[in-house]
Amino acid sequence: MELLILGRGKTGSLVAEIARQRRQKVRLAGAADNAGGAALTPEKLRDVDIVIDFTTPHCVIGNIEACVRAGKNMVVGTTGWYAQLDRIKELVRAHETGFLYAPNFSIGVNLFLEIARSAAASLKYNYSGQIFERHYAQKKDAPSGTAIAIQKIMHQASGTPEPLEITSFREGEVVGMHEVVLESPADRIYLCHDAKSRLGFAEGAVRAAEWLIGKKGFYDFKDVWREL
Ligand SMILES: NC(=O)c1ccc[n+]([C@@H]2O[C@H](COP(=O)([O-])OP(=O)(O)OC[C@H]3O[C@@H](n4cnc5c(N)ncnc54)[C@H](OP(=O)(O)O)[C@@H]3O)[C@@H](O)[C@H]2O)c1
Repeated sequence: MELLILGRGKTGSLVAEIARQRRQKVRLAGAADNAGGAALTPEKLRDVDIVIDFTTPHCVIGNIEACVRAGKNMVVGTTGWYAQLDRIKELVRAHETGFLYAPNFSIGVNLFLEIARSAAASLKYNYSGQIFERHYAQKKDAPSGTAIAIQKIMHQASGTPEPLEITSFREGEVVGMHEVVLESPADRIYLCHDAKSRLGFAEGAVRAAEWLIGKKGFYDFKDVWREL
């Protein structure tokens, strides 16, 4: 499998390292290599099987459009673009490519989403709740895509009129911490996921790319991670 990884930052570099360990052929393109979409011309993409994107909310839509229009399958880890999800879904359908995205590629967080879904039952029993998320100071989007996923899952599962409030903290080098606090007049329930490193994200993204090879359709990692 030949992978093109967009983004030479904290996560993209680790994704490249893990993919090489798994004996995949890897090319990396950062901002300078991809100015004006230079890394995504049909010629540059010719031998690429899958493109993996860990870049910025600012450029990810342009990257997605170029890759999908070139008929390339894509795994997208970049967050902060989900207001355009429906439009991208249509684009992927129209071009009959394979596309897989996730606000969080770690297995631990995807298990945590299931725990949050079960815990949402408390909101029907006199509990109120809040979501807190902490990330490194330079993170560009807030709230995090993972916090929004927790909020959406708990809102759907509880059927309450309003989603839970999210409070974001940006500080130091925090890789990613998500907390759900549920409170009743009698007690509190605390749920917390704390990423120790970016390894879980990188391994999940590479496994997702291996899974997506030769597939068509639009996939959310939370629906497929058990198959990897
Ligand atoms: N889904 C998940 O599991 C998961 C996990 C971690 C992070 N993320 C998300 O992934 C994204 C990246 O996070 P990060 O922590 O790796 O950030 P980061 O360290 O700031 O890296 C972003 C990289 O994107 C590169 N870039 C900017 N514009 C580009 C373009 N047009 N083409 C190619 N590369 C470009 C930058 O390159 P230069 O260095 O050359 O400027 C930078 O190295 C964020 O949206 C974050 O929320 C998702």
